Parts: sequence; C-alpha cells; structure tokens
Amino acid sequence: MARITAGIASSHIPAVGAALDNGKTAEPYWAPVFAGYDWVKRFEAEEKPDVVILVYNDHASAFDANLIPTFAIGCGEEFRPADEGWGPRPVPVVEGHPDLAWHIAQSCILDEFDMTIINQMDVDHGLTVPLSLMFGQVAAWPCRVIPLAVNVVTYPPPSGNRCWALGEAIARAVASYDEDLNVQVWGTGGMSHQLQGPRAGLINTPWDTRFLDWMTANPQALRHMPHIDYLREAGSEGIELVMWLIMRGAMGEAAAELHRFYHVPASNTAVGHIVLRPA
Ligand code: DHB
Ligand code: FE
Repeated sequence: MARITAGIASSHIPAVGAALDNGKTAEPYWAPVFAGYDWVKRFEAEEKPDVVILVYNDHASAFDANLIPTFAIGCGEEFRPADEGWGPRPVPVVEGHPDLAWHIAQSCILDEFDMTIINQMDVDHGLTVPLSLMFGQVAAWPCRVIPLAVNVVTYPPPSGNRCWALGEAIARAVASYDEDLNVQVWGTGGMSHQLQGPRAGLINTPWDTRFLDWMTANPQALRHMPHIDYLREAGSEGIELVMWLIMRGAMGEAAAELHRFYHVPASNTAVGHIVLRPA
C-alpha cells in the first residue's frame, strides 16, 4: 500500500528561486538561506520519496479572478513552470502521477471534499521554489509531484479546520492506494508577510516561532485559529500558512519534529521550514 512517511513545510519565496536561477546562492544575503536547506537535501536523498503531494497556492499564474477553486488537484501527466514577475523558472517540467491523483480526487470527493480536478495547468513559484529548495538544481525532479492548489489569494480562503480535515482525507486516500509508494505531503507559503499597503514588510518573528512550535506542541490551536489572527499578526499574505495545516492534518494527531529552520530576512518575509514524521 502507499504510505505517507514525512511532512515538509517551507516558504516559497519567489526571490529565492531567482537567486538560485541567477547564481546568487553564495552571496552573503542568500548563503544562510540556502544553508538552512542542506539538512533536508540530505534527508530527501535518503528518503527517496516516490511521490510528493505538494500543497501550494497559485499566484495568478494558472488561475485569475475568473476561476477561483478553493481546493484543486492536478491530475495531469505533467505541469510546466510559469510565473509572474521573474517569468517561468528554468527548472524541469514537473511530472505528475495521474493514477494516484485521480485516486485521491475520487477518494476525497466521495469522502465529501468537493475537489476541483485539473488536467492541465502551469505551476508557479509556489510549487517550483520548494522543489528547488528540497532537491537543488537538477536535470529532472527525482519524484512525481501531485499539485494541490489552495485559494489563499481571494477572500475567503478555507478555514484551518477544513484544511486539517482535508489532510486527514488525503491520508485516508493514500492509505487505500494499492501500490507500494513512499509518499510525502508538503505544505508551502508563509511565514508572516504583507506585500502591500501601510503594513508592507511586516515580519512577526515571535508569532512565526510560536506557529512553528505549535506544529508539534499544540496543533489543535493552529487548527482552530481564525483568519483574523493570521491577518492581524502575520499580515495579509500570512494566511498562506493555513496550507501547512493540510500537511499537518495528513500526519495524524501526533507528529515528531525532525528538523526546523527559521531565518530573517529573505525578500519581504522570514524563511520558515519544518520537517515532520507521522507517529
Ligand atoms: C514574497 C513571498 C511570497 O510568498 C510570495 O508569493 C510573493 C512574494 C516575498 O517575500 O517577496
Ligand atoms: Fe506566496
């Protein structure tokens, strides 16, 4: 049977992708950021996941105001890099796992989660930057990826409780897939950041640290945290962190923290990263 062996969360800052693609990783500003991902690169080389269910948000690259799916699962054969700002990154095409993706879609929908099924879409920094941080600069990504896009751009995003429950439904779906696959679930986005308005540049390190602590020490409090708390404490884009709770829900009630990294600054935000093992 397929099994979920780890959960990884990480910021998906587009400037990190641009730094990597433009050979700036050794610059004093960026070196500590990339050093923070050395541990997980070794971890991934040992763990060798077959499939990553990669929870991320699209930033108006594949969707726009005309189409706003709350939860969308990529069931296609492949997904091409796209982006706003710096443009499509020079990274490998992302290979999907249509069979498992359709199984998850079917299982979740019959489990009363009304997923949007996407057969064709491009994927932006929300998805490709975490792949680069975990696997480095490679000719081909070393595993299949199932994109799971969440609306956190247009109000209302899903609640933390709903995200957690979706993670649980994904875990049930994976556990009922009849092939021996090593599956990881990743959550991306965050940490505190606000990209516009009078509070642009907001970074709240004590709040970020508590969020990281509570991923293992008090996850039920995160599950029930209202949107307004993210907005007030973590800025308008801090709501991206609600996506981490899909990964967290997929881990089950208890999870062990294997690794953590937190660093300020990177672009307009803090880099946050955590690696969990389901109990
Ligand atoms: C930044 C961070 C993001 O998560 C994003 O999607 C865009 C920009 C930033 O820090 O600049
Ligand atoms: Fe983002």
